[in-house]
Amino acid sequence: MANLIDGKKISAEVKARAAADAAALKEQGIPVGLAVVIVGDDPASRVYVNSKKKACALCGIDSYEYALPADTSEAELLALVEQLNGDSRVSGILVQLPLPKQIDEHRIINAIDPKKDVDAFHPVNVGKIMIGDFDFLPCTPSGCMELIDSTGIDIAGKNCVVIGRSNIVGKPMAMLLLHRSGTVTICHSKTKDLAEITRRADILVAAVGKPRFVTADMVKEGAVVIDVGVNRLPDGKLCGDVDFDAVKEKASWITPVPGGVGPMTIATLMCNTVTAARLQAEKA
Ligand code: GUN
Repeated sequence: MANLIDGKKISAEVKARAAADAAALKEQGIPVGLAVVIVGDDPASRVYVNSKKKACALCGIDSYEYALPADTSEAELLALVEQLNGDSRVSGILVQLPLPKQIDEHRIINAIDPKKDVDAFHPVNVGKIMIGDFDFLPCTPSGCMELIDSTGIDIAGKNCVVIGRSNIVGKPMAMLLLHRSGTVTICHSKTKDLAEITRRADILVAAVGKPRFVTADMVKEGAVVIDVGVNRLPDGKLCGDVDFDAVKEKASWITPVPGGVGPMTIATLMCNTVTAARLQAEKA
């Protein structure tokens, strides 16, 4: 029976650190603020944006919400990003994804000042992560790393398998594990003999977006299992990418959904906003 990795508890510690750092910066007259931009009325995005604003309030970080209608044009959104780049109250800019189809996500991300890019999605920040010299770590993978570290297990030399190759989670997650000397395999929808690969994982990260995709037969006895999935079931309940009840009997450590990776993503965002505020102060 696995030990539970308590993302709620660990995220509270991370947020307390961010709050102390934000207070210290504000004491020196350095503004610490996060602009959160949401376009349209995707219900999941609204829930995420509300959680981010709530966390800002808890950490003493000023938050500025920009809720734009679903028919906002790319030019209008680019103009807002430009305005926020030049706003000294705004340390960090987060444009909630996905965006409506008339807007090219890449164009918007490219327009954000890399020093305000608290998601670490801008190509400059992605490149910096690749070479291991970064200002920001992407929120979800960084949160996953904290959860893995909380187990006390040394990543160096471990077989690490990441299921999913998104720019937001899978690819940066693999890179962070590699920086810590894990032997990393990235699996995706075209991977052959997936279970044969996942069964070799000492550390298994599931970022697939399919409810209970990872079943017990895909997991090695004693593995650390990190579940990034947030899937809404027909009955309205949340469930992860891992079949928690079965896999917990085999894993040594496992994250629950909810209460695992989700709260860590937001806690890392708070840390990144503080880092952004520091970078603004250095630039000024
Ligand atoms: N949509 C889903 N996850 C994220 C995230 O981490 N950042 C942003 N901006 N949008 C998202």
